[in-house]
Amino acid sequence: MNAIVQYRYGSPDMLELQQVDKPKAGDDEVLVRVHAVSVNPFDWHMMRGKPYLARTQAGLLKPKNNIQGADMAGRVEAVGKNVTQFRPGDEVYGEVKQSFAEYVCASANRIALKPNNLSFEQSAAVPMAGLTALQGLRDKGRIKQGQKVLINGASGGVGTFAVQIAKSFGAEVTGVCSTANLEMVRSIGADHVIDYTAEDFTDNGQLYDLIFDLVGTHSLRSFRGALTTNGVYVMCGDIGMGNWIGPVTGLFKVILSSMFRSQTMTPMLAKVKQTDLVFLKELIEAGDITPVIDRTYPLSEIPAAIRYLEQGHAKGKVVITIPHSDL
Ligand SMILES: NC(=O)c1ccc[n+]([C@@H]2O[C@H](COP(=O)([O-])OP(=O)(O)OC[C@H]3O[C@@H](n4cnc5c(N)ncnc54)[C@H](OP(=O)(O)O)[C@@H]3O)[C@@H](O)[C@H]2O)c1
Repeated sequence: MNAIVQYRYGSPDMLELQQVDKPKAGDDEVLVRVHAVSVNPFDWHMMRGKPYLARTQAGLLKPKNNIQGADMAGRVEAVGKNVTQFRPGDEVYGEVKQSFAEYVCASANRIALKPNNLSFEQSAAVPMAGLTALQGLRDKGRIKQGQKVLINGASGGVGTFAVQIAKSFGAEVTGVCSTANLEMVRSIGADHVIDYTAEDFTDNGQLYDLIFDLVGTHSLRSFRGALTTNGVYVMCGDIGMGNWIGPVTGLFKVILSSMFRSQTMTPMLAKVKQTDLVFLKELIEAGDITPVIDRTYPLSEIPAAIRYLEQGHAKGKVVITIPHSDL
């Protein structure tokens, strides 16, 4: 099968299209014929092996897995002997390991049936960004109907889901993005938009019950100043990202700054949960969320897709299509 492989950490130049063996499903796994994947900042962190702390899991000097990639949507081709939930032919989506390939073996608990009303391309855009937005707002942010919620970084992969999910919980949503994306963020449901090139949301007199931060643009003191008395700040994107321990610095700062205060400042790390993939599928089928897709590339152009994402200004998600010649 075709796959994008990588033998050394480094830039997208390390990624090559190669023929590799098709994987075989283990007892608790599902073999999926992949029709689309999407790229996330996580993929370029793994590609570069940065922050270096990540290498304790991913391989110290070179990647343990030669194929990267997490999000995918496709059709089940075979199931392991312990898998009862899926059968060949099912159309699924999920967050797996090694998805930059024509086939992937996925643990059954990392996938779910894909939304009926979405294509494979749209479905592949959902898992990591959608799970992060859902868990950040609902679990960490404890979002409630009628709250004022601000999404910092509203036009990116996670942000475009966060705006729509926050609306589905009945919040009054403010999206922060650049001038070129104001209309798009409004069109997906934001009640208010703030152009960060023209206005500083921490300095305009408005207070928010929940700030979901995907960018880390301000000091924690400034974020705190934009929260209501019992407001919650969820740190999801980069704060204090360094090459060595990366977000860990930010985590400590956030935890320390939360002590002895009525406001909550909390870091988050999204987890793959099948129940949440099902929750997202239901929101999508109810018409509450539609993935925003910026660009699509073929499998061979994953290096170009990652180069684009690394610039940090994607408008929604960047998706990779994987046509199969026999279809
Ligand atoms: N903690 C977790 O579990 C977790 C999970 C997933 C992702 N993340 C992190 O979350 C962050 C966002 O991920 P993503 O997939 O949404 O990334 P993305 O698709 O690359 O989006 C980045 C967005 O940031 C916006 N941006 C850049 N500078 C900004 C500024 N000064 N103010 C406001 N917005 C700004 C850009 O909007 P403009 O083009 O309009 O500038 C762009 O839309 C990344 O750091 C990622 O690593 C964390």
